[in-house]
Amino acid sequence: QKTALMSGVVGKNGYRHYMEKELHEHPIVIGQTLRRFVDPSSHKIILPHMPFDLSTLKRGIITACGSAFYAGLIGRYWLEEYARLPIDIDVASEMRYRNPPVESQGMGLVISQSGETADTLAALRNLKNEHQKIVSILNNEFSTIARESDVVLGTDAGVEIAVASTKAFTAQLTVLSCLTLVIAREKNKITPENKKVCLTALMDLPSRVAEVLQMKDKIQEIAHKIANAQSVIYLGRGIMYPVAMEGALKLKEISYIHADAYAAGEMKHGPIALIDQTVPVIAVVPSGFLFEKTLSNLQEAKARGGHIIAFTDAKGAEALSTIAEQIIILPTVHAFVAPILYTVPVQMLAYEAAILKGTDVDQPRNLAKSVTVE
Ligand code: G6P
Repeated sequence: QKTALMSGVVGKNGYRHYMEKELHEHPIVIGQTLRRFVDPSSHKIILPHMPFDLSTLKRGIITACGSAFYAGLIGRYWLEEYARLPIDIDVASEMRYRNPPVESQGMGLVISQSGETADTLAALRNLKNEHQKIVSILNNEFSTIARESDVVLGTDAGVEIAVASTKAFTAQLTVLSCLTLVIAREKNKITPENKKVCLTALMDLPSRVAEVLQMKDKIQEIAHKIANAQSVIYLGRGIMYPVAMEGALKLKEISYIHADAYAAGEMKHGPIALIDQTVPVIAVVPSGFLFEKTLSNLQEAKARGGHIIAFTDAKGAEALSTIAEQIIILPTVHAFVAPILYTVPVQMLAYEAAILKGTDVDQPRNLAKSVTVE
């Protein structure tokens, strides 16, 4: 498996595009990144030495750009819910000019695939000036951001060539999930049993993601439904809201179809006015917490003529059967890892839609892999 990942440096390994190849590397990358932090015999998560005492850490501030920012948003939900750590977060292009009041010796968490993004670097420097200790999650451990950080938590995603980030994103989430469990443990906010359940779900994730990668035909069907749309709306609630954002960003980036993501409960405050028969509504909605709430938002969208497409699990599919026109049933996983799993099909959907549109998938117009200018 490692060989397959490494050979990606030189070619597409028989895939049509780098993006397709990189999507198929999700399971390997999640597994490799976990192996880096999880001791195989004790199943204990071991992080590098941190520049602060995690048990007394009071606040975290997260900054990043693009998909890495959405990884940070998911990290915020995890850190707040499981580790009870208050988090402030903003895109780096805003954070660098915001000057938020911060307590000395807090955690500045910086996320970047390349480690070279200009806004992220500038935001990092501001946080350092405010005496934050910088923990960065990076795919390039020899980058400028790596050099300026106090601690680097590396993602083992290998080289990512397609401009639209895929496997680096799930690797960032894998690191954030490990960081969450360690802080939760150190702060005594999670029971050993719950931690074990979460970790087991993480270790099981590569196999579940591999199952999702087999669902290409179903995802192609959905791609046909959205390829001619002028605009697509993605909906999610809670930790699935940033997954909806990632889906919308990917679709915009590589298929050039306008897409926006909304927190499903916010629909009624404006976006619902956009909905008619021409606007597909894609819901990212596993069963469990907030499922019923999202369901009623989808009913409202359907009542306005919206065509509902749902990514859910077997249990959710039953309740959605009268609302959604298309349902993609994903493997049932623990809520902790659901945002990682649900990311994969929304990225696949963007890829398949872009194929139908005939765009330059790996090098979309106007975009750069690494944005080193302001
Ligand atoms: C560019 C890329 C995105 C990426 C973002 C942040 O816009 O096209 O895919 O998410 O930069 O890049 P970074 O290297 O900091 O993660």
